[in-house]
Amino acid sequence: MKKLLIEMLICPACLPDENRLTSKIIKEQDEDIFSGSLTCRRCGKVYPIRNGIAFLDPASLQKGKKTKSKYETAPVLSSYMWSHYGDLLNDSNASSAYTEWADLMYRNSGLALDAGSAAGRFTFEMSKKSDFAIGVDNSLSFIQSARELMINRRMKIDLLQEGVLTKQNTLYLPEAWDSDKVEFIVGDALALPFRSKAFSSLASLNLIDKVPIPIKHLKEMNRVAKEKDAQFLFSDPFSWSKEISNEEDWLGGTDREPYSGRGIKNIMALLKGERKGLLPEWRIEKQGNIWWKIRTHSNHFELIRSCFVKAHR
Ligand SMILES: C[S@@+](CC[C@H](N)C(=O)[O-])C[C@H]1O[C@@H](n2cnc3c(N)ncnc32)[C@H](O)[C@@H]1O
Repeated sequence: MKKLLIEMLICPACLPDENRLTSKIIKEQDEDIFSGSLTCRRCGKVYPIRNGIAFLDPASLQKGKKTKSKYETAPVLSSYMWSHYGDLLNDSNASSAYTEWADLMYRNSGLALDAGSAAGRFTFEMSKKSDFAIGVDNSLSFIQSARELMINRRMKIDLLQEGVLTKQNTLYLPEAWDSDKVEFIVGDALALPFRSKAFSSLASLNLIDKVPIPIKHLKEMNRVAKEKDAQFLFSDPFSWSKEISNEEDWLGGTDREPYSGRGIKNIMALLKGERKGLLPEWRIEKQGNIWWKIRTHSNHFELIRSCFVKAHR
């Protein structure tokens, strides 16, 4: 983890109190901490840094915890590597979704946050339009892959062909993408390990329907966003599922209050301050849909309509 992150980190387990973390560095190279720890001065929780990866999701510290998430499996990693970087592999079927989302962001000085960053494509896109971009995801295999790309600037990717057959491709990052301007950490989008008002550019892409308490994620994004001169890109297909969250916690797709009706309408009302929760209010710049594509194997693709809202304040 790049050392410059230390001063913006807080203990996610102590939220809503914002307690700083004390760093202990065991091994570092060129301002990058390879091993060490971050300790909360108040609750005493110790967040390890191993192989350059900071583990700032309190759940990741629990030993023998839950079953592995589907995002930690090889086929899903293969799908997302293709979805994020298929265009760099010159695949004619590649998705243009990430460049379309990136076109919605304007250049803004300060820090950028990509919540639920997965393999990191949008974090790299945000780094081109900000001073520094951080990708946060609670999947270790995604964060490992994104960091591997950041450090080595190339990566061998096994793309599933059919059955168990895979084909190896080598992905190269374009020279213009600056590895010094990105970092990836393991963290929870519902308890972000950052101090309030730290970010001037924020993105939450295809994440809200994947978290157990969706409103908590939006409140966290709002907490870490600057109160002025901030932009926020939200996008989601609203594939609500009872396996992930209780229907009463959905922000749409239900007849139940408080968030009955369509998700996009409720998210916009929250952003605009028509519903309490995300103040100071945001102004909606643009709303629309982007077709996002995921590849399962060489003959199977999922086409997903992700509904976006771009806002600023
Ligand atoms: C559907 S994927 C979208 C990934 C990426 N934003 C994109 O649009 O390509 C959802 C991502 O959110 C991550 N995720 C799910 N729950 C999370 C949480 N509570 N905190 C952080 N990341 C989470 C998953 O690991 C996965 O990478």
